[in-house]
Amino acid sequence: MNPDTSDMPVRPRRLRRTEGLRALVRETRLTCDDLICPLFVSEALDTPVPVESMPGVRQWPVAGLVQHAGELYEQGIRAVLLFGVPASKDARGSGADAPDGVVQQATRAIRQRSPDLVVIADVCLCEYTDHGHCGLVGEPGADGEREILNDQTLPRLVSTAVSQAEAGAHMVAPSGMIDGAVGAIRQGLDAAGHEAVGILAYSTKYASSFYGPFRDAAEGAPRFGDRRSHQMDPANAREALRESELDALEGADMLMVKPALAYLDVLRQTREQVPELPLVAYNVSGEYAMVKAAADRGWIDERKIVEEILVGMKRAGADLIITYHAPDVARWLAETRE
Ligand code: PBG
Repeated sequence: MNPDTSDMPVRPRRLRRTEGLRALVRETRLTCDDLICPLFVSEALDTPVPVESMPGVRQWPVAGLVQHAGELYEQGIRAVLLFGVPASKDARGSGADAPDGVVQQATRAIRQRSPDLVVIADVCLCEYTDHGHCGLVGEPGADGEREILNDQTLPRLVSTAVSQAEAGAHMVAPSGMIDGAVGAIRQGLDAAGHEAVGILAYSTKYASSFYGPFRDAAEGAPRFGDRRSHQMDPANAREALRESELDALEGADMLMVKPALAYLDVLRQTREQVPELPLVAYNVSGEYAMVKAAADRGWIDERKIVEEILVGMKRAGADLIITYHAPDVARWLAETRE
């Protein structure tokens, strides 16, 4: 029996009348449990240095970082993602897998100060190589171009991941889009007795212009060329599913789509087509910088915009979000509870 709706109109607005009703029917909620805070630790510093293009973000010396990470944990943040800036760089990125490298030092010290904080270590060479590329590079070819050497880079990444696991990292996150990295790292970790250490795969990472501010913060901009020979073409979505499926097969424990805002369709498709793994959205440096710049001019309401952006990522299918806004969100959520 179909009721005649002309006399009895359907009124979705009934459920929007009061905050109580709206809260009852809210489908997506943002909490501190959803957030991973990226942090930059620098071997050469004694005091924190602000990153100009990322207001609120600093490069930390190890001691300051440990204190800061502890405070974040006390504010409700459960996980941090560590990027290292070494005191010196060379062609093979020796600082990346040094047992006393800056990320290894920071990991050990954070695990001691804040044992329950989840530490995820970035695995990439670009912060550690003098040429700024994510892998080893070959000699110039016939066309004068220098290629990123895929298979020769793998042992460097494995050794980096193992040294980070040795230092106490809960997870490692290979971010270089080197083919086979997840499988090689999984084997290497297992062979070294680190079966319990997980892999957060940067499964779908685009060759994006949204990474500019990060390259200031991590001092990892390429000295020549760009990253389009290994990062994905922003025009492609089906290829993202292939990357996600491959990383899942190679043993990834979590998948990622990066950047997030311009790629919400890719998040949604990955969530639907590779549903078995937790999915992480990386709300990258350029996305952060745009919001901060507009907020600084008073053009937008920062808190409302950030919450809308992050809820949008969750609604699109992200289980977790890596975001430089994490400390702000933790503070805002605490203010609301008070
Ligand atoms: C390096 C790396 C980058 C980011 C995370 N890891 C930069 C790049 O690939 O050029 C970007 C993060 C951001 O912009 O916030 N492997």
